Amino acid sequence: MDELNTRKDAALAAIADAATPDAVEALRVEALGKQGWISQLLKTLGKMTPEERQEKAPAIQQARAEVADAIAARKQALDDAELDRRLATETLDLSLPAPVTPKGTVHPVSQVMDELAEIFADLGFAVKTGPEIEDDWHNFTALNMDENHPARAMHDTFYFPDRDGQDRAMLLRTHTSPVQIRTMVNEGAPVRIIAPGRVYRSDSDATHTPMFHQVEGLVIDKDIHLGHLKWTLETFLKAFFERDDIVLRLRPSYFPFTEPSVEVDVGFEVVKGRRVLGGSGDAPGHAWMELLGSGMVNRRVIEFAGLDPDEWQGFAFGVGVDRLAMLKYGMDDLRAFFDGDVRWLQHYGFSPFDQPTLSAGVGATA
Ligand code: PHE
Repeated sequence: MDELNTRKDAALAAIADAATPDAVEALRVEALGKQGWISQLLKTLGKMTPEERQEKAPAIQQARAEVADAIAARKQALDDAELDRRLATETLDLSLPAPVTPKGTVHPVSQVMDELAEIFADLGFAVKTGPEIEDDWHNFTALNMDENHPARAMHDTFYFPDRDGQDRAMLLRTHTSPVQIRTMVNEGAPVRIIAPGRVYRSDSDATHTPMFHQVEGLVIDKDIHLGHLKWTLETFLKAFFERDDIVLRLRPSYFPFTEPSVEVDVGFEVVKGRRVLGGSGDAPGHAWMELLGSGMVNRRVIEFAGLDPDEWQGFAFGVGVDRLAMLKYGMDDLRAFFDGDVRWLQHYGFSPFDQPTLSAGVGATA
């Protein structure tokens, strides 16, 4: 009995002194492990006579419980101390200035979208967004593309599996134009918005990716005409490319949701292998490049959106954001935009401190 108490007291003292979780664990094995001395003592109980067992068992079990409790308490105390130490050493001082060279960069697509928001905000446009998982009505029907419209076939649409017997009811939007409908339906007229965002088409090569970005523009008001469209696009592109010599050419075109429709070309020349916008495409050494689709909003679309086309007219345009970024910042492969390669991001990305502003120049230093 005395011997048991002596060993127990020694074990408790050692546990209280143990300085590390490993040391506690070693003491646990020594006492309570399979070969531990308390475990061995517990085993002797089986060989005892009932009387003997009744006399000795309580003390052994008591010792086991005390040692086990002491080990658990010591482990907890050491864990708490370790946590306190880490909390004390790993403090974050949120009032410190951010590092001068942050590791991450702002993706050119995000940067360009910020530039667009800045330019159009100055012209009185609000920024709207819509769902990327869109229904057939907003993406096609309300844009004057009924079920059998041939233009639907040109969109290489990703459809969701049919549900509730509904054929091709939901899809990944193929353009940002459904945001035109949502805005008119939700807010009525007048409207002056841009809608940047992701769009999806089943298409992939150096200049096409299955997901890409567009920005939609929509103006609905009274007595709006093509002159407003041309001025707006010219003002936007001059601000965006930071050049006064941007020259536009409007060509008749066709979109189901605009009437008349105009394709907008922009003059450029090739400098050191790179297309640089500016000047008339008819000037020597220059050519025209197709840049965006636009037109006067089709009366049918205004009707679908619940407005009276005799009262309200407007124009709309849609342009590829990735394309704008490539032209402005000189990338030549669209696929690299979405590879997430840190070297590309370091090279083409922007500092988070480079907030585009009209006064400082929307074209921050890359
Ligand atoms: N939605 C058209 C496209 O994706 C672009 C467009 C938008 C054309 C608005 C006219 C008016 O090709």
